[in-house]
Amino acid sequence: MYEGFWYHPMYGLEGTLFAKDHFQAHPTDVFLTSPPKCGTTWLKALIFAIVKRTCHTNCTNHPLLAMNPHDCVPFLEFNFFVAPPSRVVDNSPSPRLLATHIPYTSLPESVLISNCKIIYICRNPKDVLVSTWYFMAKLRANHELPPLSLEEAFELFSKGISGYGPFWDHVLGYWKASQELPHQIYFLTYEEMTRDTLVRVKSLAEFLGQPFTLEEERKGVVEEIIDLCSFDGLRNLEVNKSGSYWKGVKNDGFFRKGKVGDWKNHLTTQMIESLDKITNEKLQGIF
Ligand code: A3P
Repeated sequence: MYEGFWYHPMYGLEGTLFAKDHFQAHPTDVFLTSPPKCGTTWLKALIFAIVKRTCHTNCTNHPLLAMNPHDCVPFLEFNFFVAPPSRVVDNSPSPRLLATHIPYTSLPESVLISNCKIIYICRNPKDVLVSTWYFMAKLRANHELPPLSLEEAFELFSKGISGYGPFWDHVLGYWKASQELPHQIYFLTYEEMTRDTLVRVKSLAEFLGQPFTLEEERKGVVEEIIDLCSFDGLRNLEVNKSGSYWKGVKNDGFFRKGKVGDWKNHLTTQMIESLDKITNEKLQGIF
């Protein structure tokens, strides 16, 4: 645990500490932030497609057709852990797109003072628990660890013990910051993105200072981006069916079901009531 949040000692914490000491944010950087399993992959794809749309007009050559979104938008803390930082982020063209699961209070100071844009996505904790449980089962199998039962996963998650958890504190940190700095921090939920994808994509482009022109809207550029980044669109690409990300994590693990409310198929009444109680106490009105 570091500054009130749980980390994987190597893949999370070492990179976070290194980034705190060495990362220099630029005012033009865009940070995609989230707790794990909240739609990071989707957000990465959408923001990459929105921001780079002028360089990648020819859709048959679009990088997202050949690269997993996590290879298009690197995670700050993982890349600082595995490679010298200058190689990974310093050479990227502006605006640099970066992602992180680091909680707001532990972000490198240069991110906070640089005025760079931050987009935060979170999700109903009941779906986060289910999504995490499936994802962790794959990771645990890679490390030859037995799967956790859903009951065990629920107990840990409820106590705040999850990657970059407590989940609720993670959300609250970014929520409060977004209320104080609405021009710098865009707060979004997976549910809102699912319900109003077109509206959200347009408002994200505006927030980033790259609104769609009337001409682009007329040509259907917004819909093209949404289709390209859709769950089925990405999941069915060869790179995401058979490619690997890092440490044996297969790209297909990032695309499970892509629905709101799958918790209804998994959680008991007692689990639902218990999670709702914590959410109502800590995050009333956000979900
Ligand atoms: P489920 O496990 O509920 O299906 P993250 O990207 O933060 O790891 O979050 C993973 C969740 O986002 C998974 O949820 C995954 O299926 C879903 N997801 C991935 N790509 C998506 C997309 N393009 N559209 C909608 N949901 C997506």
